[in-house]
Amino acid sequence: MKKRSLLPLILLTMAACNKGEKGEWVETSACMTVAEDATSCPSSDEVQSSELWVSGWCADEIKSVEGQGTLLLADDEADTGFNDSNKCCYPVVARNTEPNCAIGRPFHEQGQIKVAAFNGPAPHDPLAKAWLEAARMEHASVAAFSRLTLDLMAVGAPLSLLAQVQAAALDEVEHARITFALASGLAGTELSPGPLSFSEALAPRTDMAAIAFDAVVEGCIGETIGAYLARRVAQDLPPGEQRDVLEALADDEERHAALSWGVVAWLLREGGEPVRAAVESALQQPTEVGGVMAILAGEDLAGLLEQGGREILDPAARALLAA
Ligand SMILES: [Fe+2]
Ligand SMILES: [Fe+2]
Repeated sequence: MKKRSLLPLILLTMAACNKGEKGEWVETSACMTVAEDATSCPSSDEVQSSELWVSGWCADEIKSVEGQGTLLLADDEADTGFNDSNKCCYPVVARNTEPNCAIGRPFHEQGQIKVAAFNGPAPHDPLAKAWLEAARMEHASVAAFSRLTLDLMAVGAPLSLLAQVQAAALDEVEHARITFALASGLAGTELSPGPLSFSEALAPRTDMAAIAFDAVVEGCIGETIGAYLARRVAQDLPPGEQRDVLEALADDEERHAALSWGVVAWLLREGGEPVRAAVESALQQPTEVGGVMAILAGEDLAGLLEQGGREILDPAARALLAA
């Protein structure tokens, strides 16, 4: 196993250069896969909320399932979050639970974590479902880095930063590939990314403080904690595909985490007081982790988060603000 120390890497990169709140309860619709020959939907009281998916959300909590299910065929164009299978959709009261189920950089729009639909039947197995959520987040990380490239270009960032951010976006394509493969293996069926609907115009921003805020939340916190957890959790897993995937992710996410601190260090130097205020407020955002990392870490999760905060995030934040 590769031995690298994350904090020195962050400090070095700096020198060189989720939102944690849960969403509101809303009335929406959630769907589940049904058999190809199904002609009707089970009534809402027969449906387990854990089998239902809300389109575009990575992690959801469903309070109630109401009314009659609507049967949609595989080729129906309704945006249900997953394609290629027949599904039953129900009106639900649900919230996007937000705890970041990325093992790295999440993609935000209007303060909400956003992922693409997926192709293939929605898996029932909890571990397959959790890895599918992680895979969709990896895929969305490509968008997060692509947007960061445009934002950085809009504020005149140096070529060395652009090169690293573009390389990181390509790493995320590979992360999406290996995590979709792992999820497909666990689900026993082919799963792949579908369309990601961007609700905001992707015009680059020129507000350095806003760019810095997102870079702290998505990168300095999201990728640093993702890298730290992936490395630590992998150490305790038995040999196998899950451990191999986590180690591959940790190798890259450590580099991405360090890059994020470097990006913010550059923004701080160029943007002055407004950027500093945004960075200080972003660093106060709580660190929340859900999904597959929470499943694999189990009871150790709270301790690992505390340790990662104390050993990596806090000293890196102090060094950033002291510069
Ligand atoms: Fe990453
Ligand atoms: Fe990643």
